[in-house]
Amino acid sequence: MTQRRTSIHGSWSGRLAFVLAATGSAVGLGNIWKFPYIAGENGGGAFVLVYLVCIATIGIPIMMAEVMLGRRGRQSPINTMRTLAEEAGASHLWRWIGWAGVLAGFLILSYYSVIAGWALAYVFRAAAGSFSGATAEGVASIFEQLTGDPERLLAWHTLFMVLTMIVVSRGVRGGLEKAVRFLVPGLFVLLILLDGYALASGAFDQGLEFLFTPDFSKITANGVLIAMGHAFFTLSLGMGAIMVYGSYLPERTSIARTSIIIASLDTLVALLAGMAIFPIVFVNGLEPGSGPGLIFQTLPIAFGHMPGGWLFGTLFFVLLVFAAWTSAISLIEPAVAWLVENKGMTRIYASVYAGIATWSFGLLTIMSFNRWAEFRPLSFVPIFKTYTVFDLLDYLTANIMLPLGGLFIALFSVWVMKRSDSVQELDMGDGAGYVLWRFLVRYVTPLAVLVVFLNVTGIVDFSGLLGLAE
Ligand code: TRP
Repeated sequence: MTQRRTSIHGSWSGRLAFVLAATGSAVGLGNIWKFPYIAGENGGGAFVLVYLVCIATIGIPIMMAEVMLGRRGRQSPINTMRTLAEEAGASHLWRWIGWAGVLAGFLILSYYSVIAGWALAYVFRAAAGSFSGATAEGVASIFEQLTGDPERLLAWHTLFMVLTMIVVSRGVRGGLEKAVRFLVPGLFVLLILLDGYALASGAFDQGLEFLFTPDFSKITANGVLIAMGHAFFTLSLGMGAIMVYGSYLPERTSIARTSIIIASLDTLVALLAGMAIFPIVFVNGLEPGSGPGLIFQTLPIAFGHMPGGWLFGTLFFVLLVFAAWTSAISLIEPAVAWLVENKGMTRIYASVYAGIATWSFGLLTIMSFNRWAEFRPLSFVPIFKTYTVFDLLDYLTANIMLPLGGLFIALFSVWVMKRSDSVQELDMGDGAGYVLWRFLVRYVTPLAVLVVFLNVTGIVDFSGLLGLAE
């Protein structure tokens, strides 16, 4: 048995704290803002099915692998990968998984914070009663006024980044653990309330049908990649966020059980959000594929018409901000942990550095929604024809960097790391559960990522076989 390492950054107070923090990381804008709009853009049912299959067969096993590597290495992902590679007698190049993750986290947070800024702005719109009695047009114009104004977006983005860096600078335990305790239950309650509104709207069946009736002729090869990318995004996988949280995890916690709990909660939140949003979309004659503004143009209509809507609306956006907050923290934690370990910075300095870099990059996203709204940098590539700078940034990170990160994490965990080490670290014995995990991580993840990539680039073509749309 190898000597157990300990983390210089401290550790969670226990298993529950880890579950809460990892759930806080997973549940975020990805579930409530992103999932419905990309499901809408990619035709609904078939997209949702691919996403669910990816969560079960790729997401949960990769989450287990990340937690396992993190807990064994007990450092920032860069140093964890370096240490574990040394331990296995493998190339030190594996630490690049950590570096790529730091870069992905930085790029994702740069736009994530801008969108979280929208949610912040909506807290005040809701509290001021701006939505009361609102029509679809009224709500759309509130949204356009916000996103069309770079200065306002900048102000909210700045506020959100400051909030994030405050928590990050205080370390893993201070505050973070506590926020999630009321956040996740609170989100559930409000989403169920919104589902109740959707149920009474008269188009609930239509919403369900859209989400749960798979029609593969409505999804393209690129849509399949987006569904897979989203499985990584929504579970915070592929860039070391869950790995770094795993590095603060006490020994003797069942990694398999906690991963399943976290993935289930996360999926439930996404589905509840989708079920609330699509009936409102259909009743109001809106377009399911209308893009990143979808929830901001639908939910306010519901709040504007239900009794006590301003209160519930305010609460909802407050919770959404918290959900984004607990996710944002995990996007920057790998970078901050590395700065502390290797550059000898205090957490406060490390947070300020990482925060300023991310904040500046956020300007690209801000401009994409106004000054550069018509700018299509890669319009000569067919699948990117309509993509703005923000769309490209999101595509590059969620659909390319995260699956690639996940692929290499998978390869390392089962092809490089000794079998006996993963048996020991996962601590679930060497029975059917372990064998299934190993099979999924060894073959299914690498093959799935490869096939989906090749299919999108057109190098191989399974689209006809599966009846996918062109
Ligand atoms: N999972 C979060 C969400 O769905 C976003 C997020 C947090 C994330 N940490 C991450 C995405 C790490 C990818 C990688 O909102």
